[in-house]
Amino acid sequence: MRKDTMATEPQRQIKRYDLVTPMLPCKDVILAEFERLLLSGKYINGEYVSALERELAEACGVAEAVGVASGSEALFLALAMAGVRPGDEVITTPYTFAATVEAIVLLDAVPVFVDIQPTDLNIDPGLIADAITDRTRAICPVHIFGAPCDMIPIAEIGEQYGVEVIADMAQAFGTLYNGKPCGSFARMSSLSFYPTKNLPGIGDGGMIFCRKKEDADRIRRLRGHEAIRLNGHLYAGWNSRLDEVQALAIIARHACFKDEQIDRDQVAAIYDRHIPATNRLRTPNGGRGIRVTYHQYWVRASRRDELRQRLSAAGVDTGVYYDPPLHKHELAEYCRVQGDLRESERAGAEVLTLPIHAALPFADAEIIGSIVKEFLQAES
Ligand SMILES: Cc1ncc(COP(=O)(O)O)c(C=O)c1O
Repeated sequence: MRKDTMATEPQRQIKRYDLVTPMLPCKDVILAEFERLLLSGKYINGEYVSALERELAEACGVAEAVGVASGSEALFLALAMAGVRPGDEVITTPYTFAATVEAIVLLDAVPVFVDIQPTDLNIDPGLIADAITDRTRAICPVHIFGAPCDMIPIAEIGEQYGVEVIADMAQAFGTLYNGKPCGSFARMSSLSFYPTKNLPGIGDGGMIFCRKKEDADRIRRLRGHEAIRLNGHLYAGWNSRLDEVQALAIIARHACFKDEQIDRDQVAAIYDRHIPATNRLRTPNGGRGIRVTYHQYWVRASRRDELRQRLSAAGVDTGVYYDPPLHKHELAEYCRVQGDLRESERAGAEVLTLPIHAALPFADAEIIGSIVKEFLQAES
């Protein structure tokens, strides 16, 4: 798949994403299956969604997977079927995409923010217990940028306090923790198939991985307009189906997923060689049963905006996430803050993401790595 060209033209643009080239090995399969679907007339609730659900449930090591319309809806439905009701609290971090908090707020529940760890930008398990009150219904760890949250202590806290763990794994398909898929640790985990994600669709889509069959059964009813009464509360159903076109494309991409991961790993390994460990993800990939999927590769710099400028002058597209973090977002008035959120704020101000995708020439990664290295050396 890879065309490893040398970067010769000085102002050539190096994009953060390439949504087309990594899809090309699957193109013929997608087109052939699309024609089959088109002529079958079974556009909704057909065989592709069921096949994808079976395939990804197995890949994630859970009893069931349910396809839905987006990663946002996956999280909303999972939290609802975990029994989150108006007035309940859900513990998460502010260093995440707005969808995590929107899902909680749309259930009329209260997001409670605790801080992240500087090493992997994920929720700090040591801060969760202090945030628990008698209104806490769930903990929502987010496997940010494809690095796994520390799920064992999080699950222990959940069990100790009788609180559900519902994970947002929108960015973490393929990620392993303790040698197992990260989607197998929480009661339910939500995934996004948004086109920039690790396992992309060609439009919107999402999935919920369920450890319990009864959760999957309820979500299937809810996504198809059936109201569900749970612990005395009535949840209205609506249309949140994954469509067949997305499912057939995702099945094709899943067949190429391991090869793409290897290419992304190699790009990350090049960056790792250039960038000091204190300025990047410190989760050891391959150690302690962890496998990171580099949804994003991030670097931390105290003069982040200058580094961004420097890379931009060299034609390199970079990303800034989540600046400001969500406790400074307009939805903050619906949220509660627990403790200080210093690491989330520091990450918002310092983190820069570099191009990473399966078609990025290694020579480009070397160029980007050396620009970052030189900048960080001058900064220190
Ligand atoms: C952490 C996180 N949660 C939820 C979502 C929502 O997924 P979707 O865009 O498929 O609704 C995203 C997508 O960007 C995300 O990054």
